[in-house]
Amino acid sequence: MKRIAVMTSGGDAPGMNAAIRSVVRSATAKNIEVFGIRQAYAGLLSGDLERLTSRDVSGILQRGGTILQTARNDEFKTPQGQRRGLRRLNEHGIDGLVVIGGDGSLRGAMALHKLGLPVVGIPGSIDNDIWGTDMCIGVDTALNTILGAIDRLRDTASSHERAFVIEVMGRSCGYLALMSGIMGGAEAILIPEADMELEEVARRLEDAYLKGKNHAIAVVAEGAKHSAADVAKFVENKSVGFEVRLTILGHLQRGGSPTAYDRLLASRMGIKAVSCLAAGQYGVMVALHGREMATVTLEDVTSKPAPINMDDYEMAEMLSQ
Ligand code: ADP
Ligand code: F6P
Repeated sequence: MKRIAVMTSGGDAPGMNAAIRSVVRSATAKNIEVFGIRQAYAGLLSGDLERLTSRDVSGILQRGGTILQTARNDEFKTPQGQRRGLRRLNEHGIDGLVVIGGDGSLRGAMALHKLGLPVVGIPGSIDNDIWGTDMCIGVDTALNTILGAIDRLRDTASSHERAFVIEVMGRSCGYLALMSGIMGGAEAILIPEADMELEEVARRLEDAYLKGKNHAIAVVAEGAKHSAADVAKFVENKSVGFEVRLTILGHLQRGGSPTAYDRLLASRMGIKAVSCLAAGQYGVMVALHGREMATVTLEDVTSKPAPINMDDYEMAEMLSQ
């Protein structure tokens, strides 16, 4: 392997830059040239590639977002788009590709693998919704951002005796909501994997009021059955004792400097991805299993759903009393 390319795709995640840096520097150490593809599969189709040297990735370890930028592109979902993408890579003499992104991006990687390109994926998504790895790059930073927000909201909630309904990201996965709800001390957590009826949310917030708490918090995953707006409206109409306010955290969850955990995870995953390509291990995603770097097949990653650990949900139930 003489020349590889790297891209970041799908929603950006803090730590993607650390992964790019790690790919570039570990490949360079093996005398492999690296090209960065700007704006993911869209940039691949338009041939937007640039050579990246070790010096080009200086000073990016601590930066959120991605220096290669990212994009979503529908054309690449078609067989014609995928063949065109492979042709572009061949035109540039690229003989291996690292895709850093979420489950959709890894489906794109799988498509290129099926066409015969040596591909390795790196899980980068704040949602932690990718099968086969304990953690994805960006999750820890997003969780810390959400927790900072919950702590601040609790300050003002307890000053005014209010209940806050807080919507967090995660697409159709409840991981961010569940974990931030546990660590933020929420009275109710609504996730797609475990429905909670509106009556039950209201009951829990009222119970908190009757127990003498001066605030209450409900964390709602954006993919939950009931939207945060509907939860807030329902609880307000129920008069549970607290005034109710709604906060949608939105895209601020995706930004910010990556935590120590994400920088380390991204650096380890970047090195592992390059060593897979160099060793001829293709069609895999690098993964964290416990404390070890591992690999799982893209076939499995793109065909299996990432389950949530229901023990964590039980823990949340226990601790919210
Ligand atoms: P994420 O990677 O964060 O899950 P998306 O689901 O939006 O984000 O996917 C990012 C991009 O990956 C899409 O815009 C598309 O270009 C590509 N992609 C997604 N699904 C597929 C697929 N089934 N086949 C090929 N490419 C795909
Ligand atoms: O996949 C990451 C994510 O932030 C999801 O949590 C969210 O649903 C989605 O991306 C938002 O996408 P966009 O940036 O296109 O609004």
